[in-house]
Amino acid sequence: MRWLVTGGGGQLATRAVDLLDGSGDDVVALTSRDLDITDAAAVERAVADVRPDVVLNAAAYTAVDAAETDEATAAAVNEDGPRLLAEALARHGGRLLHVSTDYVFDGAADTPYDIGDPTGPRTAYGRTKLAGEQRVRAALPDRSHVVRTAWVYGGPGANFVDTMRRLEGERETVSVVADQLGCPTWARDLAAGLLELGRADVPGGVLHFVNAGQASWHDLAREVFRLVGADPGRVEPTDTASFPRPAPRPAWSVLSTRAWVAAGLTAPRPWRDALAAYLAAAPAV
Ligand SMILES: NC(=O)c1ccc[n+]([C@@H]2O[C@H](COP(=O)([O-])OP(=O)(O)OC[C@H]3O[C@@H](n4cnc5c(N)ncnc54)[C@H](OP(=O)(O)O)[C@@H]3O)[C@@H](O)[C@H]2O)c1
Repeated sequence: MRWLVTGGGGQLATRAVDLLDGSGDDVVALTSRDLDITDAAAVERAVADVRPDVVLNAAAYTAVDAAETDEATAAAVNEDGPRLLAEALARHGGRLLHVSTDYVFDGAADTPYDIGDPTGPRTAYGRTKLAGEQRVRAALPDRSHVVRTAWVYGGPGANFVDTMRRLEGERETVSVVADQLGCPTWARDLAAGLLELGRADVPGGVLHFVNAGQASWHDLAREVFRLVGADPGRVEPTDTASFPRPAPRPAWSVLSTRAWVAAGLTAPRPWRDALAAYLAAAPAV
């Protein structure tokens, strides 16, 4: 199989390319410098040249707060870019795995969001990601998958887990919000899931992939401390109201992977197991 991975410098893309290298598949990974997915002519050229069996679109505008004051740029990357990829694949053949987010939901639920639950984004980022999902599904209904995920860590660049590991060495205590719940997800596990999906014969549609179980950011930080041999009691709980941000953070980001498993794909492992594997494998920051 031949893969084209966009957003090649990002967390997810980097882990996907790690797994594809040496897998026997061909992979062409393009960073934002190599391919700007908002450039229609460049997208057409890339798809026509590479002729991928599967495009993994890991490119996104992920600056959630900045999107509030720059929704046009966020929409170009999160809505127009995925549409251009889907349209090019409609012309040339090939499938699209497009990655989306818990931010398409309103964050007000108290049971895990399933694939068919009503969306209702409360942020500019969430609105643009939802629009991207819709564009992809409309342009390539039979050959696209939208895979929503949440709370991803473990690629290059800043992420919550690495930040907690660093702060453990720098501060006696850290305050972490305990009233937002989600599913911490190792980028490597997500990448492996997407590769499995890309190789499987699953009808096009929307799926969710997150590591299993749920946690607050406070739970996650405590587990990082515990796993590096530090006292989890040094992580103090606080609440969302104490950390005002331009984009409101969802209180509930727990996604159901019921449909993923029902499609015959491997059930994601528990988030604590994935975190332990990540910390065992990752060089200290
Ligand atoms: N991280 C999370 O917690 C999380 C949670 C839910 C869903 N997701 C979704 O998961 C996917 C992967 O996220 P991630 O964590 O890997 O994000 P990431 O580390 O921010 O990577 C995104 C990549 O997209 C690239 N990019 C930005 N604009 C581009 C453009 N116009 N053309 C091509 N590439 C462009 C960025 O390159 P530059 O750095 O050069 O701009 C960056 O390398 C995204 O769809 C995201 O919405 C992430």
